[in-house]
Amino acid sequence: MIDVRWNSKRNAIDCILPITRPTSKVRIKRKGIFPVATRKEKLTKQDYIEWQISYQNNKTGELIEFGRIISIAFNKGIVSRKDIYSLINSIKDTETFEESYKISRRITTIMFNRFRVIYEKIPILRYSFEDGCYIDIALKHKQKAVGYQAMIYIYIPLLNVKSIFSDPLIGRESYTKERVIWNPLKDHILGLLRSFLIASKTHKKDIVENVIPKIVSK
Ligand code: ADE
Repeated sequence: MIDVRWNSKRNAIDCILPITRPTSKVRIKRKGIFPVATRKEKLTKQDYIEWQISYQNNKTGELIEFGRIISIAFNKGIVSRKDIYSLINSIKDTETFEESYKISRRITTIMFNRFRVIYEKIPILRYSFEDGCYIDIALKHKQKAVGYQAMIYIYIPLLNVKSIFSDPLIGRESYTKERVIWNPLKDHILGLLRSFLIASKTHKKDIVENVIPKIVSK
């Protein structure tokens, strides 16, 4: 689980993200595609942190990651009750991404060792922020059930974060267990909230009925 806390000195939300775990929910991606083994390869200006961000521990109901970010943001007055409810009301009756899009296949005439080559086309929704961050919502087949599942990722340019070791990151390999600090702003927080609300019916219901009441009633 990712450490998210209020930094009272800097008046900012600190998200402390590991950059040395290429198989985890937080990893470094090059060109938005390839995971990078950062202990062996030098970091570049084009690299992004990919964070498959969650919001709640499904067993305990405890708010984590985005749940903590929006909770802290609300308590510190970064996002208001009105920000949250105007957003929820503005997308109340629209169909979700999972209901509106499909993964499709294109069958080709190309053969590879007696096998026919088929391409799968996966819809992705992308929301770009002015500072170079973006959110992708990608459709996947469900692993243990029928139907689709929308996966939400936020991409953060390495240039937008600082190492806990306060050494510049670009042009070197990462240090053992190195972590970086990212400060989400109001736009990122509302963008993530919008993402969970439009991704799927289940997330929307969960956010509106469980997560938001926990935050605003405190
Ligand atoms: N459930 C919790 N977090 C999620 C995410 N980032 N993408 C898809 N489903 C999720």
